[in-house]
Amino acid sequence: MDISVKAPAKINLTLDVLHKRPDGYHDLEMVMTTVDLADRIDLTEITGGIRLQSTSGFVPFDDRNLAYRAAALIKERFGITKGVNILIHKRIPVAAGLAGGSSDAAATLRGLNKMWNLGLSTEELGELGLALGSDVPFCVQGGTAIARGRGEQLTPLSPPPPCWVVLAKPPHGVSTVEVFQALKMEKITTRPNLEGMLNALDKKDFDQVCEQLANVLEGVTMATYPKVRFLKERMATFGAEGVLMSGSGPTVFGLVKKESVAFRVVNGLRGFCRQVYAVRMLGGLKENSLE
Ligand code: C5P
Repeated sequence: MDISVKAPAKINLTLDVLHKRPDGYHDLEMVMTTVDLADRIDLTEITGGIRLQSTSGFVPFDDRNLAYRAAALIKERFGITKGVNILIHKRIPVAAGLAGGSSDAAATLRGLNKMWNLGLSTEELGELGLALGSDVPFCVQGGTAIARGRGEQLTPLSPPPPCWVVLAKPPHGVSTVEVFQALKMEKITTRPNLEGMLNALDKKDFDQVCEQLANVLEGVTMATYPKVRFLKERMATFGAEGVLMSGSGPTVFGLVKKESVAFRVVNGLRGFCRQVYAVRMLGGLKENSLE
């Protein structure tokens, strides 16, 4: 049976780093939500091993690819001798802070669970996914959630108020490892107000969501890539009501209520940035089904 699975990008509405752990990871506290910019993963059963193809030349085709590793993990864990061809229709920018690779891996896990009738729950798929990357458990589940620990302790939330999300990805990619290495815990002065964001989401208060956007990694990435600050400033000038860097960056997103303003922001940014998108904030709404 062939299966096609949607792999949406995520953005961080908040991102706080609580402390560094003895295992080298950091304990995080984040509000994440999926947006309607998605890769599509087509899974086709083949005999033998794992083959990976992509519409983008920017993704690796071997076990450096998280989707490839997801398939290898499933095959090994459940003793599956059949093979799979993974075709990734890539739309999410790579190394962007949008969890594109993690979402491809999560979609592969969900798809193979179905294709090979493994009967794994979302939680079980998330536990498997954590071995692939910290954002994979959230991507398995999608929607909107608080993510704690490495990112795997998830508390689902109701979706943000409907709005447009303008995404601008500077030409360079960012290494998450390097951003965490450059982070000086003692230099964090302002942190997100989680309660404030939860309250805003609860009340579906768009203005308050915009006010509460905060990411402690933003300053770290901006120090190396001034383009992030520049794009934030431009987005606000062109009319975005709330602006933030997503994850470890470098993608900057802007929240906008009206479609006409969203496209004004996109058009304004085009002169400064090639990869600009206007997509719907969907985190958890029915249209954002992962199938
Ligand atoms: O889990 P993942 O492989 O996506 O993480 C990439 C890198 O980001 C880790 O090797 C680590 O340096 C950093 N990281 C962290 N704490 C987290 C998640 C990621 O320090 N909770």
